Amino acid sequence: MSASETRTGQQADRYAVVGNPVAHSKSPYIHTQFAAQTGERVEYDRLLAPLDGFVEHVQAFRAAGGRGLNVTVPFKLEAHALAHKLSPRAAAAGAVNTLRFDEDGIYGDNTDGFGLVRDIEVNLGVSLEGARVLLLGAGGAARGVVLPMLERRPREITIVNRTAPKAHALLAQFEGAAGEFGCLLNGGGPHAIYLDPVDAKPYDVIVNATAGSLDAALPECDERAFGAGTLAYDMMYGAQPTVFMRHAQALGARAADGLGMLVEQAAESFFVWRGVRPEGAPVLAALREQLAAQAA
Ligand code: ATR
Repeated sequence: MSASETRTGQQADRYAVVGNPVAHSKSPYIHTQFAAQTGERVEYDRLLAPLDGFVEHVQAFRAAGGRGLNVTVPFKLEAHALAHKLSPRAAAAGAVNTLRFDEDGIYGDNTDGFGLVRDIEVNLGVSLEGARVLLLGAGGAARGVVLPMLERRPREITIVNRTAPKAHALLAQFEGAAGEFGCLLNGGGPHAIYLDPVDAKPYDVIVNATAGSLDAALPECDERAFGAGTLAYDMMYGAQPTVFMRHAQALGARAADGLGMLVEQAAESFFVWRGVRPEGAPVLAALREQLAAQAA
């Protein structure tokens, strides 16, 4: 029996995560669990593409019968450029993490923001509707979550960034959409990395979308933004809580890492490919156990 055949002898559909590096990716584990859970005939691998060979690798995978790809660092912008058709959320994000190979072309989607929202609302039980949200960062990760967050109709999203003009540019991009959802966006004024003292009160949700946790750096943020009722969410994760999580906990807030976002963006990709939505929670619990074992 070949690797792409199931026990019933039917061909499994092939998917993969493409990135560089990609050896550490948990996506094969997650999607294999989803396939077992849903009974979908899916085989899922890792695809290491050279930094200058993304398009060739994708086309070769497609030509060999591949049905779709998850795209990770550093290829999300190239995937956006490669897609013939984009979902509205991928167009707003300016980046693609999910490719689906359709008969009439390559469809590009971005499930990262959806994954974040679902983790916050379903796994962590915090409704974004009517919430005051503080978004730290204005890079690619931040841009990808604004539209899915707006769709949940928060009262307010404040975007702050170390480099203020980037926050303002992000704000400008979403101003129209914010009005459409009855939500107020606030770029933070001239002192964009600090909250205006008048507004210095705890937020319902603070999302760290900066790349700071990669090098253990804490993004600057007024400490009064954190309170007992605050969910402080770091889009990064690791075997140990990030500096941002520890900082938030020290200020009395509840902290969460981005492991659930990883699982939920994968579940949404699976849905985009298969039309079947797997349950994220049991896979998240299994991954959490694996991380705890690593930390022990
Ligand atoms: P990504 O796709 O992960 O968002 P990016 O587009 O390079 O990556 O954006 C990185 C984000 O993290 C930016 O908002 C960046 O702030 P600047 O625009 O000022 O560069 C932010 N960032 C990175 N390191 C940071 C740090 N040590 N403190 C605060 N913000 C940081």
